[in-house]
Amino acid sequence: MKASLSAVPRVKFANLPTPVERMTRLAPKIGLRELWVKRDDLSGLALGGNKTRKLEYLVAEALSHGARTLLTTGAPQSNHCRQTAAAAAKFGFDCVLVLAGEPPTRYSGNLLLDHLFGAEIVWCPKDQREATLQEVFQKLWREGRRPYRIPYGGSNALGVLAYAQAVGEVVEQGVCPEWIVFPSSSGGTQAGLLLGCKLYKLDARIVGISVDLPASELRERIFQLCCQASDTYSFSVSVRIEEIVVDDSYRGEGYGIPTQADIQAIQDFARYEGILLDPVYTGRAAAGLIDLVKRGTIPADASVLFWHTGGTPALFAEAYEKLFSPP
Ligand SMILES: Cc1ncc(COP(=O)(O)O)c(C=O)c1O
Repeated sequence: MKASLSAVPRVKFANLPTPVERMTRLAPKIGLRELWVKRDDLSGLALGGNKTRKLEYLVAEALSHGARTLLTTGAPQSNHCRQTAAAAAKFGFDCVLVLAGEPPTRYSGNLLLDHLFGAEIVWCPKDQREATLQEVFQKLWREGRRPYRIPYGGSNALGVLAYAQAVGEVVEQGVCPEWIVFPSSSGGTQAGLLLGCKLYKLDARIVGISVDLPASELRERIFQLCCQASDTYSFSVSVRIEEIVVDDSYRGEGYGIPTQADIQAIQDFARYEGILLDPVYTGRAAAGLIDLVKRGTIPADASVLFWHTGGTPALFAEAYEKLFSPP
């Protein structure tokens, strides 16, 4: 069944529109004529990030289902889990997080905040995530706690819808970039931006910098999300898989392991613009952006929008403590 966009339930708690700021010091430093940053790190809800927009729709659906518990999953330093835990606190849900990995000896960064928001944490090995989620879901259901399951990264048709609408926000702000660069992982943000550019007729090249998955796998996911969202809502536009650009060349040794270029990019944004990036997502995407300009893939005279998707609390995670400490 098709649903009209304006009829999709949404609870409004995000600080929108998020600012879009021109980087007058960083642009010449990296060799670009025009660099803008869309500040979704200032979107509100427990230090902001790209999940705020998605959660406005996901929480509305949970409320309409009569749910009592939000259940989701992620890495130990998941921004998505931290923001879901905050949303649960705000709307009076319980929150259960299935985190893939070993319990740490010390709680820090996002994980510390999960605990502060009162989330219950279930640890599991990464390869048992799905089975654990199902077990926990059934247990919550048996106990009468009415769980609502939010997908990994908040990426389903609702999450995609949120980011499609975010493009309309940029257009209304009068910024018309030729390129949009951002980190891509579960794919919802990229699927939304792709559909949104078509819906709002913004002729920009959308480049997702993969933080973990190989490009072929992530493109397929993004394509499925685009199809799901187009099918669910009355989108008059659709995305072809050939149009999806994912650059996976900046993954280094893998997810959550910052490369020297990631660290440099974080320092550049901090020291030239006073903007905090994070060591897992936005630092990597910024390193990709800087390299793409250096290589001439993004021409020096282009207008570029870097979509800041948040993640700041991970800067304070124990694992990254020494990254920016003096020697
Ligand atoms: C800070 C940050 N940026 C980007 C992403 C990737 O967004 P998506 O999962 O929609 O691809 C995430 C996902 O968790 C994130 O936490």
